[in-house]
Amino acid sequence: MIKLSDSQRTLNRMSRIIKALLLISKIENDQYLKQDTIGSIELMDEVLEEIEERLTEKNITLHKYFYDDYTITQCNRTLLFTMMTNLINNAIKYNKDGGSIDIYTRVKDGRFQIEIKDSGIGIDKTDITGIFDRFKRLNKNKADGYGLGLPLVKTIAGCHKIEVLVDSTSNVGTEFTLRF
Ligand SMILES: Nc1ncnc2c1ncn2[C@@H]1O[C@H](COP(=O)(O)OP(=O)(O)OP(=O)(O)O)[C@@H](O)[C@H]1O
Ligand SMILES: [Mg+2]
Repeated sequence: MIKLSDSQRTLNRMSRIIKALLLISKIENDQYLKQDTIGSIELMDEVLEEIEERLTEKNITLHKYFYDDYTITQCNRTLLFTMMTNLINNAIKYNKDGGSIDIYTRVKDGRFQIEIKDSGIGIDKTDITGIFDRFKRLNKNKADGYGLGLPLVKTIAGCHKIEVLVDSTSNVGTEFTLRF
């Protein structure tokens, strides 16, 4: 007989997967208004405040290099918050104990960008093209999750016309760049 706690866990897992898929579908169907205005540094600080505890738990040092600020207009604040949270959560989850995360906000080649660099396990070059695919999770990744974080990041970025770039070296770290 299946224990109640097991079925409860399965239910929770399924419910989280459905929620994430629904969110992606709703964004793709243009069901979210984009009427907010927020400063990039304000957004980052808000996200980091929520995540602080997890950083301490994993003994990760955060460096903020907020060189330039940028006003993001006609956006959905909640969705941008979700997008940044997913990227930083990954930077924590796939980091090494005692590792670091560097966040840059700056103008480069005439465009404002936010960079999130971690000193984690990295992603093999052969795997990198598939990481935005739904349910994709890499073999060496033993952390739990559903492989829906990055697809959500891609969808939210797409609906805000933000370009997402990724660069990674196995065992050295990963860098995500959002170009506005
Ligand atoms: N910063 C990173 N460093 C190393 N690998 C990463 C990083 N971000 C993502 N990955 C790899 O890409 C896969 C997909 O990431 P994604 O965020 O979509 O899913 P997840 O973290 O496994 O689960 P979820 O976000 O749904 O809880 C991860 O399982 C991991 O293997
Ligand atoms: Mg994730």
